Amino acid sequence: MNFTTDKNLHTIESKKVNGTGSEQNVEPWVATKMTKMQIFWMIFTFVFTLGPIRVLLFILIHAISLIFYRIMAIGVNESNSYGKFRSKLIEKWTNIGSRLSIATMGYYRIKIVNKENYVNWKKNRNERIIISNHSNQQDIEIILSLIATGFIAKSSVKNIPFIGSINTCLQGIYVDRSKKNTWIFDKIKLRATNKKLLPIAIFPEGTCTNNKSLLKFKVGAFSAGAPIQPLLIKYKAGFPLSFINLYFTVQNPWIIFLNLFTNIINHVEVTFMDPVQPTEEEKINPKLYLENVQKKYQEVSNWKVHNLGYRDMVKYMEEMKKVKKNN
Ligand SMILES: *[C@@H]1O[C@H](CO)[C@@H](O)[C@H](O)[C@H]1NC(C)=O
Ligand SMILES: *[C@@H]1O[C@H](CO)[C@@H](O)[C@H](O)[C@H]1NC(C)=O
Repeated sequence: MNFTTDKNLHTIESKKVNGTGSEQNVEPWVATKMTKMQIFWMIFTFVFTLGPIRVLLFILIHAISLIFYRIMAIGVNESNSYGKFRSKLIEKWTNIGSRLSIATMGYYRIKIVNKENYVNWKKNRNERIIISNHSNQQDIEIILSLIATGFIAKSSVKNIPFIGSINTCLQGIYVDRSKKNTWIFDKIKLRATNKKLLPIAIFPEGTCTNNKSLLKFKVGAFSAGAPIQPLLIKYKAGFPLSFINLYFTVQNPWIIFLNLFTNIINHVEVTFMDPVQPTEEEKINPKLYLENVQKKYQEVSNWKVHNLGYRDMVKYMEEMKKVKKNN
């Protein structure tokens, strides 16, 4: 896939892939640029809302988590069970620890839409595969504060301090994005069928977007033909800066980071969409299953689905850097 190097870089050329030479929008990653004035206010506010202290608390919570999970995980790997007692303990701390962690970013309460679906999930735990749309790192802890689950992540996540080890203890699975990962279908199937293991959460778009469009789902979550619990996460910046962007945008990582820790009040809403039970046909046809679930997301968002993925995002970021240098 080729990027056209026009000034705005809002298009991507799919010539190499399908020979059509048609251009697609790269809306999923276009940043809503902050003005210099806004950046100034953000840094100023970050200091006055005790941002640095909240960052330290954030690190402390994860250090405690890390020790806890490391002890819990002794003798356990991603495919054997923690046992009843340890599972309960892990679930409790995962919920509480993540709550504390997101509180450092100003989320004190998670508004749950369709609460009865959440209550049912807690009671029966039938859907072992959780999917959600994805726009920032905080999505992970928002989900963890409701459901103790491992995540499917790219292999580089494994080595991120704290985060990697915690996901490993939560029986997360890592994929090497430069390779075909067909082996993962068996692992997902195991997690979908064995209730003794922790559930597995997947962001089917495969990467973050900026609250403007959906990427074509990847087949992994649907490959097992198992029931799925779909989630929808929404953010709203609160106080004092309502212009803070809590969605992933391709811009300086420091700005993204500061955005998370600047406001003392932010809002988040998690919708527990109706759990999906695949039909007999969908069970043997993951592509069909995928399309039908993707449609449900399209219905609530009214967004166009882009046939783009993680690699396109990396390319897009590289091109953005080049353009910046040349200007
Ligand atoms: C995300 O997009 C929805 C519309 O699709 C909009 O209502 C909402 O305000 C957006 N959120 C943010 C924080 O930009
Ligand atoms: C998920 O989709 C909803 C509905 O379109 C949107 O409002 C929300 O911002 C998205 N959230 C994330 C985390 O991408």
